[in-house]
Amino acid sequence: MVRVQVGGPKMDKKTNILLIFLALVIIGYLGHQNYTLNQTKIALEIELENTKQDFVSTTEKLSSDIEEFRDLLVTTQSEKITAEQEALRQQELLDGMTNTLGLYQKLATTDRELLAKYSKVYFLNELYTPKLSITIPPQYTLESEKEKMISAEVWPFLRQMLDDASTTSTDLKIISAFRSFDTQSTLKSGYKVTFGSGASTFSADQGYSEHQLGTTVDFTTTKLGTNNLTFEKTPEYKWLTENAYKYGFILSYPKGNAYYIFEPWHWRFVGKGLALRLHDEGKNFYDLSQRDINEYLLTIFNQ
Ligand code: DAL
Ligand code: ZN
Repeated sequence: MVRVQVGGPKMDKKTNILLIFLALVIIGYLGHQNYTLNQTKIALEIELENTKQDFVSTTEKLSSDIEEFRDLLVTTQSEKITAEQEALRQQELLDGMTNTLGLYQKLATTDRELLAKYSKVYFLNELYTPKLSITIPPQYTLESEKEKMISAEVWPFLRQMLDDASTTSTDLKIISAFRSFDTQSTLKSGYKVTFGSGASTFSADQGYSEHQLGTTVDFTTTKLGTNNLTFEKTPEYKWLTENAYKYGFILSYPKGNAYYIFEPWHWRFVGKGLALRLHDEGKNFYDLSQRDINEYLLTIFNQ
């Protein structure tokens, strides 16, 4: 603090002026300092305000960037999901095509004759024989010295049926199985000699017999032997009517059928699926349309 004693007794005028000048300088200096400080303060306040605004706009920008980034993330995620779904769809398409191809391959290698309606409807050419045949073990046949053949694919079903039947004191014996075109021809010629046109009520012409497929058998019992005309009255026939469908076998020519006399001994393998359907619906094989029957072709040998 500067004390100025203006007009004091001990000071001369010059000194006083000097002192006043000095005081003015100091006051000016202080005023200037104050002004500068104020200016600095204002500048700082402006800068602070600017910084604040910068901060606000930076924050806004950051928020909008975050928002944009979030949108981008959501879009990316949904694109990822879409891509995954597309990949899944493509895979399903591929699987479907593979399955269809598999079905076509199976269909191409499946013998369509196996479920065809041969009784006077379709014709098997003279060269047709089952894809693979085996000899039926003699203990299952009536005349063990005469070789009987059956489709190798049908045999496991037939054997199972015969084995299961034998556990219930039935005595089923196979009297006829696969018959070639020529064998059928000879057989039919013989019947014609004896029965004339009547032969056609119980014997198919060559090319029209289910026996040529190798999927069909005629049964008898040891007791009846080769004359199985009364097979209908045997417990073996009863057992077959109650159980054969479980093994995929059906009675081709039931009472009142449109093709031949009632043949209780003649059983054809059509697969478990179709046999079960016929059993459940109380229908006969020849009642169904060929188109309906063919639905079961691919699964004919399913267990
Ligand atoms: N006995 C039947 C109809 C056949 O000869 O195939
Ligand atoms: Zn037969």
